[in-house]
Amino acid sequence: MRVSIIGSGYVGLVSGAGLSEVGHHVLCMDINEERVEGLRNGFIPIFEPGLETMLRENAAQGRVRFSSSLAEAVAHANVLFIAVGTPPGEDGSADLSHVLSVASGIGKCLEKPLLVVVKSTVPVGTCEKVQKAIEAELEQRGKDLSFHVASNPEFLKEGAAIADFMKPDRIVIGTESEDAEHLLRELYTPFNRNHEKLLCMDIRSSELTKYAANAMLATKISLMNEISNVADRVGADIEHVRIGIGSDPRIGYSFIYPGVGYGGSCFPKDVQALEHTATQHGYTAELLQAVEAVNNRQKRKPFELLQQHFGDNLPNCRIAVWGLAFKPNTDDMRAAPAVTLVQELLEQGASVVGHDPEAGEVAAELFAGHDGFEVADDPYLAADGADALVLVTEWRMYWAPDFERLQSAMKQAVIVDGRNIWAPHVVRRRGFAYYAIGRP
Ligand SMILES: NC(=O)c1ccc[n+]([C@@H]2O[C@H](COP(=O)([O-])OP(=O)(O)OC[C@H]3O[C@@H](n4cnc5c(N)ncnc54)[C@H](O)[C@@H]3O)[C@@H](O)[C@H]2O)c1
Repeated sequence: MRVSIIGSGYVGLVSGAGLSEVGHHVLCMDINEERVEGLRNGFIPIFEPGLETMLRENAAQGRVRFSSSLAEAVAHANVLFIAVGTPPGEDGSADLSHVLSVASGIGKCLEKPLLVVVKSTVPVGTCEKVQKAIEAELEQRGKDLSFHVASNPEFLKEGAAIADFMKPDRIVIGTESEDAEHLLRELYTPFNRNHEKLLCMDIRSSELTKYAANAMLATKISLMNEISNVADRVGADIEHVRIGIGSDPRIGYSFIYPGVGYGGSCFPKDVQALEHTATQHGYTAELLQAVEAVNNRQKRKPFELLQQHFGDNLPNCRIAVWGLAFKPNTDDMRAAPAVTLVQELLEQGASVVGHDPEAGEVAAELFAGHDGFEVADDPYLAADGADALVLVTEWRMYWAPDFERLQSAMKQAVIVDGRNIWAPHVVRRRGFAYYAIGRP
C-alpha cells in the first residue's frame, strides 16, 4: 500500500519504519526541512532503540523516503496518517493547530480519494474538525472528492516503540465507514497474524480510548506515589507494600513503582487535556486533577530530600544527577522529572552536573546559558566532587554502580535514589547517607 505519514517525530518515524518493514511504500513528511534533509542523509533525529537500523534498511530498499512537501505526501498516498504533535496549550487543552493546519493543507491539494487517519492523540471531536477543515478547502476549490477520516490512536512506548509497533497489544480503529475499516484491516494484516488485534469502534470512543489508557496508567503511578508518602510518615517500606499489592492479579506489578513522578510527552499533557475536555462538557474530573497534583508534588520530592539534608547550605552544593531523560532508553526530556529538579537546584544557586547515556545533548541545549549546569559524558565524572548524587532515571547502566569509587570521587557521601533501585542497607553499609522514596 502507499502510505504517507505527516510528522516525522517519535510516532511518525516509528510508524514509518514499521509499515515499510512489512512492505508498504511509505513517505514520511515533516514541515521541518532540516529534519527531512538529515533523514535523507541517514541521520535519525531521535534516539529510539532499533529505529535507525530499520529506517536505514528500508530506505536503502526504496520502501521509505522523506519529504517536506505535503502536496507530494498527499499525491503519494492512498492512506495518510497525521502524526504531528498535540502539545498542551496554556489552559491545558490539546493544541490542535498542527493537526488542523495539516488538514487544511490536505484539502488544498487533494486530487483523488484518500483515507486520512488521525494517529496523533487528539480530544474527542477532533476527527470531525479534520473532516470539516478538509471539506472547507475542497469546497473553496470547487472539488467534490471522496475522502474519509478515521481515528487510529497510537499506544507505543518510547524506549520500546519498535517492538510495540511491530507487536501491538491492540490496534484501535475508529471509523463509521466500511471502506475505511477494510483499508485499515488490509494495511494492518501483517501485524494481526498471531491473533485478532483490531478493535473497531466509533470515532469518539476511539479518541477517548487513548486518553483513558494514559489516564489509567498515570493514576496507578500517582496512587503509588501517594501511598509512598504515607509510608514515609508511618515508617513502612513502600517496596514491601508494592510487592504485597502487585501479587494480586487484579492489581498487577506494572506501573506501581514509586518514584519521582511521571514525565514525558504523553501522560502529563494527556491527563491535563482529558481534564480540560471534561470541564468543557460541564464535568469536574476530580480524580484526574488529583493525579496531576500528586505528580507535580512528587516531581519535587528529590529536591525536598536534598533541602532536608543540606538545609541552608544547599546553594553551595554541587549535585550530580544520573538520568535526565524522562525514562530509560529514550532521549526525550519533555516534562522530565530531571528538568524540575535541575531548575529548582539552579534557582537555589546550587550547581548541577548531569549524566545520561542519550539525553546529554538535549539537556545541554535545554539548560544552555545556565552557568551552573554542565553535562558529563561519564557517570563517575558527574559524581566527581559532588556533595550528593541523585538517581532520577533508572538506566540499566546505573543499577550496579561501584559505590567505593563513588565514595572516593564524591565530596560528601549522600545519595538520593529517586527510583528505589538500590538496596538501602548495601548503600548505607558503604557509608552513604541514603534517601529513597517511601523507604525507611
Ligand atoms: N511520543 C510518544 O511516545 C507518543 C505515543 C503515542 C502517541 N503520541 C502522540 O503522537 C503525536 C506525535 O507525538 P510525537 O512524540 O511523535 O511528536 P514529535 O514532537 O516527536 O513529532 C512531531 C513532528 O511533527 C512535525 N510537524 C509539526 N507540524 C507539522 C506540520 N504542519 N506538517 C508536518 N509536520 C509537522 C514536527 O516538526 C515534528 O517533527 C502526539 O499527538 C502525541 O501525543 C506520542
